[in-house]
Amino acid sequence: MRIFLIGFMGAGKTHWGKQVANRMGLPFHDLDELIVAQEGKSIADIFTDNGEEYFRLAEKQMLEELVEREDSMIISCGGGTPCFFNNIDFMKRYGIVVWLNTHVEVILQRLLKERMHRPLLKDIKDEDLRNHIIRKLNERRMYYEQADVIIDKEDSISMNDFIQTVLHA
Ligand code: S3P
Repeated sequence: MRIFLIGFMGAGKTHWGKQVANRMGLPFHDLDELIVAQEGKSIADIFTDNGEEYFRLAEKQMLEELVEREDSMIISCGGGTPCFFNNIDFMKRYGIVVWLNTHVEVILQRLLKERMHRPLLKDIKDEDLRNHIIRKLNERRMYYEQADVIIDKEDSISMNDFIQTVLHA
């Protein structure tokens, strides 16, 4: 079983991915981390040196490589992964796509603390961040909504509920 976790930056994809993988005894992969390892530089540096288009292509290729290599795993995607090329269709074809529909206020609090390494946010002022998240989330919602499973209230669901929801998709 392949499980793709999607959702906005700060939604908790990596956190949940690691825990669910651990509990289900499945390998865990973080798409961003794999790209960083392949390129030998941070996501921020890839954006600066090579541009977003280059990153999006690397992201798509890494996704395809993983799917070809393993048929059982949990993949934490980048926030933009489902929104480029036909990645969302690709993921749905080869696994279960789970959207962590985390509340904007929860995302905001997380991103206020840890956004410097996120190139799409580094120039946004703290006071503009909430509106930026809302706008971007609305742009991306049409992709996220295509997930097979939608997890609301990510910050208050238990691990067992999470796994049961995914398994009954
Ligand atoms: C991005 C999200 C990031 C990373 C890159 C672009 C996006 O991943 O892939 O900075 O477009 O939302 P996280 O969602 O893991 O922060």
